[in-house]
Amino acid sequence: MNDAALNSLSDNLLDTLRCQPIRSYPASQLATLHNCCPADILFAVDLLRRSGYDIKSGREERFRFISAPDLLLAAEITHRLTTSFVGRTVYAYNSVQSTNSVAGKLAEAKAPDGAVVVAESQTKGRGRMARPWYSPEQAGIYLSIILYPEINPADAPGLSIITSLALADTLAGYDPSEISIKWPNDCLLGGRKTAGILTELSADLISVHHVIVGVGVNLNQRRTDFPPEIRRTATSLRAETKTEIRRVRFLRRFLKQFENNYQRFCRSGLKPFRRRILKYSSLLGKNIKLDMQGTIIAGKAVDIDRNGNLVLETSTGCRTFSAGEVTVVKNHRR
Ligand code: BTN
Repeated sequence: MNDAALNSLSDNLLDTLRCQPIRSYPASQLATLHNCCPADILFAVDLLRRSGYDIKSGREERFRFISAPDLLLAAEITHRLTTSFVGRTVYAYNSVQSTNSVAGKLAEAKAPDGAVVVAESQTKGRGRMARPWYSPEQAGIYLSIILYPEINPADAPGLSIITSLALADTLAGYDPSEISIKWPNDCLLGGRKTAGILTELSADLISVHHVIVGVGVNLNQRRTDFPPEIRRTATSLRAETKTEIRRVRFLRRFLKQFENNYQRFCRSGLKPFRRRILKYSSLLGKNIKLDMQGTIIAGKAVDIDRNGNLVLETSTGCRTFSAGEVTVVKNHRR
Protein backbone atom coordinates (compact mmCIF):
# COMPACT_ATOMS: atom_id res chain seq x y z
CA MET A 1 0.00 0.00 0.00
CA ASN A 2 1.50 3.41 -0.97
CA ASP A 3 1.59 6.49 1.30
CA ALA A 4 -1.48 8.18 -0.23
CA ALA A 5 -3.57 4.99 0.09
CA LEU A 6 -2.40 4.50 3.69
CA ASN A 7 -3.26 8.13 4.56
CA SER A 8 -6.70 7.75 3.05
CA LEU A 9 -7.26 4.41 4.84
CA SER A 10 -6.24 5.92 8.20
CA ASP A 11 -8.66 8.86 7.69
CA ASN A 12 -11.53 6.48 6.90
CA LEU A 13 -10.58 4.15 9.73
CA LEU A 14 -10.60 7.09 12.13
CA ASP A 15 -14.16 7.95 11.04
CA THR A 16 -15.26 4.36 11.69
CA LEU A 17 -13.56 4.09 15.09
CA ARG A 18 -14.84 7.36 16.48
CA CYS A 19 -18.31 6.91 15.11
CA GLN A 20 -19.04 4.70 18.15
CA PRO A 21 -16.19 5.33 20.60
CA ILE A 22 -17.50 2.87 23.20
CA ARG A 23 -17.22 -0.01 20.77
CA SER A 24 -14.12 -1.99 19.91
CA TYR A 25 -13.70 -3.42 16.41
CA PRO A 26 -11.74 -6.53 15.39
CA ALA A 27 -9.09 -5.86 12.71
CA SER A 28 -10.74 -8.47 10.48
CA GLN A 29 -14.08 -6.60 10.54
CA LEU A 30 -12.35 -3.25 9.91
CA ALA A 31 -10.50 -4.84 6.97
CA THR A 32 -13.77 -6.04 5.43
CA LEU A 33 -15.37 -2.64 5.98
CA HIS A 34 -12.46 -0.82 4.32
CA ASN A 35 -11.81 -3.33 1.61
CA CYS A 36 -8.23 -4.12 2.59
CA CYS A 37 -6.36 -6.80 4.54
CA PRO A 38 -5.97 -6.88 8.37
CA ALA A 39 -2.22 -6.07 8.05
CA ASP A 40 -3.16 -2.74 6.37
CA ILE A 41 -5.41 -1.97 9.33
CA LEU A 42 -2.45 -2.50 11.68
CA PHE A 43 -0.34 -0.09 9.58
CA ALA A 44 -3.12 2.50 9.57
CA VAL A 45 -3.61 2.22 13.36
CA ASP A 46 0.13 2.67 13.79
CA LEU A 47 0.07 5.78 11.60
CA LEU A 48 -2.82 7.25 13.61
CA ARG A 49 -1.02 6.58 16.88
CA ARG A 50 2.13 8.24 15.56
CA SER A 51 -0.01 11.30 14.75
CA GLY A 52 -1.08 11.45 18.41
CA TYR A 53 -4.39 9.52 18.44
CA ASP A 54 -4.96 7.28 21.42
CA ILE A 55 -6.30 3.96 20.09
CA LYS A 56 -6.55 1.09 22.50
CA SER A 57 -5.84 -2.49 21.40
CA GLY A 58 -7.78 -5.28 23.04
CA ARG A 59 -7.89 -9.05 22.81
CA GLU A 60 -7.82 -10.65 19.34
CA GLU A 61 -6.60 -7.46 17.65
CA ARG A 62 -9.62 -5.37 18.54
CA PHE A 63 -9.28 -1.57 18.39
CA ARG A 64 -11.11 1.20 20.22
CA PHE A 65 -10.89 4.98 19.80
CA ILE A 66 -9.94 6.75 23.05
CA SER A 67 -9.04 10.34 22.19
CA ALA A 68 -7.77 12.71 19.52
CA PRO A 69 -4.73 14.99 19.94
CA ASP A 70 -5.16 18.76 20.01
CA LEU A 71 -3.10 19.10 16.86
CA LEU A 72 -4.02 21.11 13.79
CA LEU A 73 -4.49 18.05 11.60
CA ALA A 74 -6.79 18.22 8.58
CA ALA A 75 -8.90 15.30 9.87
CA GLU A 76 -9.38 17.03 13.25
CA ILE A 77 -10.29 20.41 11.82
CA THR A 78 -12.84 19.04 9.36
CA HIS A 79 -14.35 16.61 11.90
CA ARG A 80 -17.57 18.26 13.19
CA LEU A 81 -16.89 21.42 11.16
CA THR A 82 -20.27 22.95 10.31
CA THR A 83 -19.22 25.41 7.59
CA SER A 84 -20.41 25.01 4.02
CA PHE A 85 -17.14 25.88 2.23
CA VAL A 86 -14.60 27.58 4.51
CA GLY A 87 -12.16 24.97 5.86
CA ARG A 88 -13.67 22.14 3.82
CA THR A 89 -10.19 21.74 2.29
CA VAL A 90 -7.31 21.97 4.75
CA TYR A 91 -3.59 22.01 3.98
CA ALA A 92 -1.94 21.24 7.33
CA TYR A 93 1.81 21.55 7.92
CA ASN A 94 4.08 21.04 10.86
CA SER A 95 6.25 24.05 10.05
CA VAL A 96 6.29 26.57 7.20
CA GLN A 97 7.93 29.95 6.72
CA SER A 98 4.55 31.70 6.50
CA THR A 99 1.08 30.23 5.94
CA ASN A 100 0.25 33.37 3.89
CA SER A 101 3.10 32.60 1.47
CA VAL A 102 2.01 28.95 1.11
CA ALA A 103 -1.62 30.03 0.63
CA GLY A 104 -0.59 32.61 -2.02
CA LYS A 105 1.08 29.90 -4.09
CA LEU A 106 -1.89 27.55 -3.66
CA ALA A 107 -4.25 30.33 -4.76
CA GLU A 108 -2.15 30.89 -7.92
CA ALA A 109 -2.62 27.17 -8.58
CA LYS A 110 -6.43 27.59 -8.11
CA ALA A 111 -6.87 25.89 -4.73
CA PRO A 112 -10.57 25.63 -3.73
CA ASP A 113 -12.44 28.69 -2.47
CA GLY A 114 -12.36 28.74 1.34
CA ALA A 115 -9.37 26.37 1.56
CA VAL A 116 -7.36 26.84 4.74
CA VAL A 117 -3.60 26.55 5.28
CA VAL A 118 -2.56 25.87 8.90
CA ALA A 119 0.80 25.24 10.54
CA GLU A 120 1.93 24.23 14.02
CA SER A 121 4.72 26.81 13.75
CA GLN A 122 6.09 29.42 11.35
CA THR A 123 9.74 30.34 10.88
CA LYS A 124 9.02 33.65 9.09
CA GLY A 125 5.49 34.51 10.23
CA ARG A 126 4.83 38.09 9.21
CA GLY A 127 2.54 40.82 10.44
CA ARG A 128 1.45 44.25 9.25
CA MET A 129 4.12 46.91 8.69
CA ALA A 130 6.64 44.12 7.88
CA ARG A 131 6.78 43.11 11.55
CA PRO A 132 7.52 39.47 12.45
CA TRP A 133 4.72 37.38 13.97
CA TYR A 134 5.89 35.27 16.91
CA SER A 135 4.78 31.72 15.97
CA PRO A 136 6.00 29.10 18.47
CA GLU A 137 5.09 25.44 17.99
CA GLN A 138 1.67 24.24 19.13
CA ALA A 139 0.95 27.30 21.28
CA GLY A 140 -1.16 29.37 18.92
CA ILE A 141 -3.01 29.10 15.64
CA TYR A 142 -1.42 30.29 12.41
CA LEU A 143 -3.74 30.05 9.46
CA SER A 144 -4.52 31.57 6.09
CA ILE A 145 -7.83 31.39 4.25
CA ILE A 146 -7.87 31.41 0.43
CA LEU A 147 -10.80 33.34 -1.05
CA TYR A 148 -11.97 34.49 -4.49
CA PRO A 149 -14.54 37.16 -3.58
CA GLU A 150 -16.48 39.01 -6.26
CA ILE A 151 -15.93 42.40 -4.69
CA ASN A 152 -14.46 45.72 -5.68
CA PRO A 153 -10.71 45.78 -4.79
CA ALA A 154 -11.35 49.01 -2.86
CA ASP A 155 -13.66 47.11 -0.50
CA ALA A 156 -11.08 44.42 0.38
CA PRO A 157 -9.93 46.11 3.66
CA GLY A 158 -13.43 45.32 4.96
CA LEU A 159 -12.41 41.64 4.94
CA SER A 160 -9.88 42.29 7.71
CA ILE A 161 -12.56 44.05 9.73
CA ILE A 162 -15.10 41.21 9.46
CA THR A 163 -12.31 38.75 10.33
CA SER A 164 -11.49 40.67 13.50
CA LEU A 165 -15.20 40.59 14.43
CA ALA A 166 -15.27 36.81 13.90
CA LEU A 167 -12.23 36.51 16.17
CA ALA A 168 -13.73 38.78 18.83
CA ASP A 169 -16.97 36.76 18.82
CA THR A 170 -15.03 33.49 19.05
CA LEU A 171 -12.92 34.85 21.93
CA ALA A 172 -16.13 36.02 23.65
CA GLY A 173 -17.27 32.37 23.87
CA TYR A 174 -14.45 31.80 26.42
CA ASP A 175 -15.64 34.61 28.67
CA PRO A 176 -12.37 36.54 28.98
CA SER A 177 -12.31 40.05 30.41
CA GLU A 178 -12.69 43.06 28.14
CA ILE A 179 -12.45 42.11 24.46
CA SER A 180 -11.75 44.98 22.10
CA ILE A 181 -10.61 45.65 18.56
CA LYS A 182 -7.94 48.25 17.95
CA TRP A 183 -8.62 49.72 14.52
CA PRO A 184 -8.20 48.45 11.96
CA ASN A 185 -8.10 44.83 13.15
CA ASP A 186 -6.01 43.91 16.21
CA CYS A 187 -7.91 41.82 18.76
CA LEU A 188 -7.10 42.73 22.35
CA LEU A 189 -7.90 41.10 25.68
CA GLY A 190 -7.59 43.43 28.66
CA GLY A 191 -5.85 45.91 26.35
CA ARG A 192 -3.13 43.45 25.21
CA LYS A 193 -2.84 42.01 21.73
CA THR A 194 -4.12 38.44 21.35
CA ALA A 195 -4.71 38.11 17.62
CA GLY A 196 -3.66 39.85 14.42
CA ILE A 197 -4.72 39.75 10.80
CA LEU A 198 -2.71 40.19 7.63
CA THR A 199 -4.86 40.35 4.51
CA GLU A 200 -3.02 40.11 1.19
CA LEU A 201 -4.68 40.89 -2.09
CA SER A 202 -4.01 39.91 -5.67
CA ALA A 203 -6.07 42.20 -7.90
CA ASP A 204 -6.14 44.51 -10.90
CA LEU A 205 -7.95 47.86 -11.00
CA ILE A 206 -11.41 46.40 -11.35
CA SER A 207 -11.38 42.86 -10.00
CA VAL A 208 -9.97 40.75 -7.21
CA HIS A 209 -8.08 37.62 -8.31
CA HIS A 210 -7.69 36.18 -4.84
CA VAL A 211 -7.41 37.25 -1.23
CA ILE A 212 -5.40 35.59 1.52
CA VAL A 213 -6.72 36.30 5.00
CA GLY A 214 -3.90 35.42 7.42
CA VAL A 215 -4.76 35.07 11.09
CA GLY A 216 -2.47 34.56 14.07
CA VAL A 217 -4.01 33.90 17.50
CA ASN A 218 -2.15 33.57 20.79
CA LEU A 219 -3.94 30.76 22.62
CA ASN A 220 -1.82 28.77 25.06
CA GLN A 221 1.28 30.91 25.58
CA ARG A 222 2.12 31.95 29.13
CA ARG A 223 2.96 35.64 29.60
CA THR A 224 6.61 34.75 30.18
CA ASP A 225 6.76 32.79 26.90
CA PHE A 226 6.54 35.99 24.83
CA PRO A 227 9.82 37.57 23.71
CA PRO A 228 10.82 40.55 25.92
CA GLU A 229 10.02 43.13 23.22
CA ILE A 230 6.30 42.22 23.16
CA ARG A 231 5.85 40.84 26.71
CA ARG A 232 4.17 44.02 27.98
CA THR A 233 1.81 44.38 25.05
CA ALA A 234 0.88 40.76 24.15
CA THR A 235 -1.25 38.16 25.85
CA SER A 236 -2.92 34.82 25.13
CA LEU A 237 -6.43 33.52 25.73
CA ARG A 238 -5.04 31.06 28.26
CA ALA A 239 -3.18 33.80 30.16
CA GLU A 240 -6.45 35.76 30.40
CA THR A 241 -8.81 32.90 31.31
CA LYS A 242 -6.35 30.67 33.25
CA THR A 243 -7.64 27.70 31.24
CA GLU A 244 -5.84 25.57 28.66
CA ILE A 245 -7.53 26.09 25.28
CA ARG A 246 -8.38 23.26 22.85
CA ARG A 247 -6.95 24.82 19.72
CA VAL A 248 -8.85 22.67 17.23
CA ARG A 249 -12.18 23.56 18.85
CA PHE A 250 -11.28 27.27 18.79
CA LEU A 251 -10.35 27.01 15.12
CA ARG A 252 -13.61 25.30 14.13
CA ARG A 253 -15.64 27.91 16.01
CA PHE A 254 -13.70 30.72 14.36
CA LEU A 255 -14.11 29.27 10.85
CA LYS A 256 -17.88 29.08 11.38
CA GLN A 257 -18.08 32.70 12.58
CA PHE A 258 -15.81 33.79 9.74
CA GLU A 259 -17.92 32.08 7.08
CA ASN A 260 -21.13 33.70 8.39
CA ASN A 261 -19.48 37.15 8.34
CA TYR A 262 -17.88 36.60 4.94
CA GLN A 263 -21.10 35.56 3.21
CA ARG A 264 -22.90 38.55 4.71
CA PHE A 265 -20.09 40.92 3.77
CA CYS A 266 -20.10 39.72 0.14
CA ARG A 267 -23.88 40.38 -0.02
CA SER A 268 -24.14 43.64 1.91
CA GLY A 269 -20.70 45.11 2.66
CA LEU A 270 -19.85 46.41 6.12
CA LYS A 271 -23.24 48.01 6.81
CA PRO A 272 -24.71 45.08 8.82
CA PHE A 273 -21.56 44.98 10.99
CA ARG A 274 -21.49 48.61 12.04
CA ARG A 275 -23.08 48.08 15.47
CA ARG A 276 -20.55 45.34 16.37
CA ILE A 277 -17.63 47.37 14.97
CA LEU A 278 -18.52 50.26 17.27
CA LYS A 279 -19.22 47.94 20.22
CA TYR A 280 -15.74 46.39 20.10
CA SER A 281 -13.77 49.50 19.16
CA SER A 282 -11.05 50.36 21.69
CA LEU A 283 -10.39 53.82 20.24
CA LEU A 284 -13.61 55.79 20.17
CA GLY A 285 -13.43 58.92 22.31
CA LYS A 286 -9.66 58.59 22.75
CA ASN A 287 -6.89 60.94 21.67
CA ILE A 288 -4.64 59.11 19.28
CA LYS A 289 -1.72 59.49 16.91
CA LEU A 290 -2.03 57.90 13.49
CA ASP A 291 1.18 56.97 11.71
CA MET A 292 0.73 56.79 7.94
CA GLN A 293 4.11 55.64 6.70
CA GLY A 294 5.92 58.37 8.62
CA THR A 295 3.26 61.10 8.45
CA ILE A 296 1.78 61.54 11.93
CA ILE A 297 -1.75 62.88 12.41
CA ALA A 298 -3.04 63.67 15.91
CA GLY A 299 -6.72 63.79 16.78
CA LYS A 300 -9.64 62.31 18.70
CA ALA A 301 -11.18 59.09 17.30
CA VAL A 302 -14.87 59.90 16.88
CA ASP A 303 -16.23 57.23 14.50
CA ILE A 304 -15.60 54.25 12.25
CA ASP A 305 -17.66 54.90 9.17
CA ARG A 306 -19.68 52.43 7.07
CA ASN A 307 -16.63 51.74 4.89
CA GLY A 308 -14.51 50.85 7.93
CA ASN A 309 -12.51 54.10 7.83
CA LEU A 310 -11.38 55.78 11.02
CA VAL A 311 -12.82 59.27 11.53
CA LEU A 312 -10.59 61.67 13.48
CA GLU A 313 -11.46 65.08 14.87
CA THR A 314 -8.26 67.03 14.18
CA SER A 315 -7.24 70.66 14.62
CA THR A 316 -8.31 71.23 11.00
CA GLY A 317 -11.69 69.47 11.27
CA CYS A 318 -12.98 65.90 10.85
CA ARG A 319 -10.82 63.71 8.61
CA THR A 320 -11.25 60.12 7.43
CA PHE A 321 -8.44 57.54 7.18
CA SER A 322 -8.43 54.11 5.57
CA ALA A 323 -5.09 52.84 6.91
CA GLY A 324 -2.36 53.54 9.44
CA GLU A 325 -0.87 52.52 12.75
CA VAL A 326 -2.59 53.91 15.83
CA THR A 327 -1.08 54.83 19.20
CA VAL A 328 -3.33 55.98 22.00
CA VAL A 329 -2.04 59.18 23.60
CA LYS A 330 -1.91 58.89 27.39
CA ASN A 331 -3.23 61.91 29.30
CA HIS A 332 -0.46 63.01 31.63
CA ARG A 333 -1.56 64.65 34.87
CA ARG A 334 0.47 67.65 35.98
C1 BTN B 1 -0.46 41.72 12.62
O1 BTN B 1 -1.10 41.90 13.66
O2 BTN B 1 0.49 42.44 12.34
C2 BTN B 1 -0.88 40.61 11.67
C3 BTN B 1 -0.35 39.28 12.10
C4 BTN B 1 -0.76 38.15 11.17
C5 BTN B 1 -0.06 36.85 11.49
C6 BTN B 1 -0.62 35.70 10.71
S1 BTN B 1 -0.05 34.15 11.33
C7 BTN B 1 -0.70 33.33 9.96
C8 BTN B 1 -0.47 34.21 8.75
N1 BTN B 1 0.85 33.94 8.18
C9 BTN B 1 1.67 34.98 8.32
O3 BTN B 1 2.88 35.00 7.94
N2 BTN B 1 1.06 35.99 8.91
C10 BTN B 1 -0.33 35.68 9.23
